[in-house]
Amino acid sequence: MEESNIQSFSLAGRTVLVTGASSGIGAHLAKVAARAGARVVLAARRVERLEQLSMDIEWDGGQALAVAMDVTSRDSVEAVFDVAEAHFGVIDVVLNNAGIGNGKRPLEISEEDWRAMLSTNLDGVWRVAQVAAQRLVKAGKGGSIVNVASILGLRVGTGYSHYCAAKAGVVQLTKSLALELARFQIRVNAIAPGYFRTEMNEAFFDSEKGVDYIRQLVPMRRLGELSELEGPFLLLASEAGSFMTGSVLAADGGHLLSSL
Ligand code: NAI
Repeated sequence: MEESNIQSFSLAGRTVLVTGASSGIGAHLAKVAARAGARVVLAARRVERLEQLSMDIEWDGGQALAVAMDVTSRDSVEAVFDVAEAHFGVIDVVLNNAGIGNGKRPLEISEEDWRAMLSTNLDGVWRVAQVAAQRLVKAGKGGSIVNVASILGLRVGTGYSHYCAAKAGVVQLTKSLALELARFQIRVNAIAPGYFRTEMNEAFFDSEKGVDYIRQLVPMRRLGELSELEGPFLLLASEAGSFMTGSVLAADGGHLLSSL
């Protein structure tokens, strides 16, 4: 029988950076990374929330460090990598998750709205991935970058033209970086979540319109649970996905398949 890889979902001995760790998907997957054995660097703008999360992780027996990061600023990103390296060593795994989701009709999107969306949801992902890769290459280490895209990076939906453009950019960036960083043993993959109730969208999904939307368009007729992103994340982050690079995994209850 061939050798099995069944233990390889572990992140023991790894340093994992999670951006946008102060709420939603990032906060959840940061706890999962810690439970999988990683030292976790929690980064976002709201440090009080990160400190609370860091305490929760430590209470649970894990190791975490809370640091302020604004993904729109190069200096802020570099500073987090410096602090993290001093504390835990080189960052091996990145969950590039920070994002905003302010929906707006196409004729109403201002220059500021457009810039804010692209600068967080696309430039921020590129910036963090680039800094991570530069430092891994310098240290002579391989690693894994997991970008959080969206099903709206693969198909379109109304009220989100700026978001769709940014997330489609994340999908292409993921594949381009995967192509060029493979020689350095750095894997780059993406998760494309369907709809999960978080601070970004809870007002809509708590409304009757939101409930109807999900019932009509998602083949599984429900929102996702955050726990349902754990498998895709651990697969891409850990050695279990050691031959995967450039892939975009949808976790969406079949939403991308909704009938035309
Ligand atoms: P959320 O609003 O709970 O989390 C977003 C996080 O990003 C927050 O921690 C926020 O503080 C942080 N953030 C925003 N701008 C930042 C900046 N400039 N610098 C640092 N951190 C910043 O929402 P959620 O849903 O957890 O979103 C996480 C990611 O998942 C986003 O990239 C989002 O686009 C993506 N996503 C979410 C879906 C959903 O249904 N919830 C569906 C598809 C993708």
